Amino acid sequence: MASIRFDGVRVVYPGTARPAVDGVTLEISSGTLAVLLGPSGCGKTTLLRTVNRLQPVESGRIEIDGQDTAALDPIALRRRIGYVIQAVGLFPHLSVAQNVAVVPNLLGWPRERADARVDELLAQVSLEPATFRSRYPSQLSGGQQQRVGIARALAAEPQILLMDEPFGAVDAIVRASLQRETRRLQRRIGATILFVTHDVDEALELADLLVIMRDGRVEQRGRPAAILAHPATPFVAELTGAGDAFRRLGVTTLGELAAARAASAQAPAAAESGEIPSLAPGATLREALGAMLASGAQRVRITGDGGESSTLDVGELWRALRSQDADGRG
Ligand SMILES: Nc1ncnc2c1ncn2[C@@H]1O[C@H](COP(=O)(O)OP(=O)(O)OP(=O)(O)O)[C@@H](O)[C@H]1O
Ligand SMILES: [Mg+2]
Repeated sequence: MASIRFDGVRVVYPGTARPAVDGVTLEISSGTLAVLLGPSGCGKTTLLRTVNRLQPVESGRIEIDGQDTAALDPIALRRRIGYVIQAVGLFPHLSVAQNVAVVPNLLGWPRERADARVDELLAQVSLEPATFRSRYPSQLSGGQQQRVGIARALAAEPQILLMDEPFGAVDAIVRASLQRETRRLQRRIGATILFVTHDVDEALELADLLVIMRDGRVEQRGRPAAILAHPATPFVAELTGAGDAFRRLGVTTLGELAAARAASAQAPAAAESGEIPSLAPGATLREALGAMLASGAQRVRITGDGGESSTLDVGELWRALRSQDADGRG
């Protein structure tokens, strides 16, 4: 378990007038996947690097589990924190397997355990171990190098993971699979993840906590659905595409809408016979609309794990979208 707290963190690069990070105060509770989203140059990478002390701060402090990181040994700190850098940064003279095993070796894992872990991780990032284990970084494509960088960061199952645009060089299919893998890892080991991206859809898809940055400051933070429903400034609205109805539909699940409906004691729409698409509570409103359009039905059935079901009709979906409470959390 590891929470991260930034308290008035400020970074000014030597010879520059404006701070790159300008008084960031932010709390990321243990097990949260926080996404930093903001335009190029707004300070995302700089803020990320303050966590493992690759970037010194001018003022303010960073705490991990309530402990001031300034008091910790930076080398030991870095071994506890997985880091996927924006520019991949594999060691060119080490094979893929050696790159992935860097931290386990530093931690003194027995050879067999490290080897097994390397193969497991390569498979997880869709690199067939027998094919790739012995290759060198120069013998890989950009996207393959990026995947090795991710495997390396995950190798020692760190409690904190810093990921700086980790999926930039991979195609849409591998990207979706790595996004799922990141989520699974977060759930399995309860890792706290600080994730930087330029990609709004990726941010909305992954974030428990979305942090919008601008000019070294935090402009708004919150759940993606809440930010899309209530962007604090025109900048946030434009950056997140909050005016895009499909985007808003994409961040609310059927389960959330059903919960909001239960809270307001509103009767579910009457069931109808005939072909009604069935969707799980985890499906988004956007997926529900897609299913209605594809089937010609006016409603979808929401089917829970326990076999219970209710329906959602197109009118309710429309009202959810129009309502200020489209995020289902009030
Ligand atoms: N070593 C450095 N020396 C001086 N200025 C720097 C240095 N590194 C970054 N900066 C400046 O600090 C600001 C923040 O940079 P940073 O790399 O944190 O931005 P970013 O949000 O990660 O951008 P991008 O999305 O393009 O990666 C920028 O204005 C950048 O030019
Ligand atoms: Mg950056």
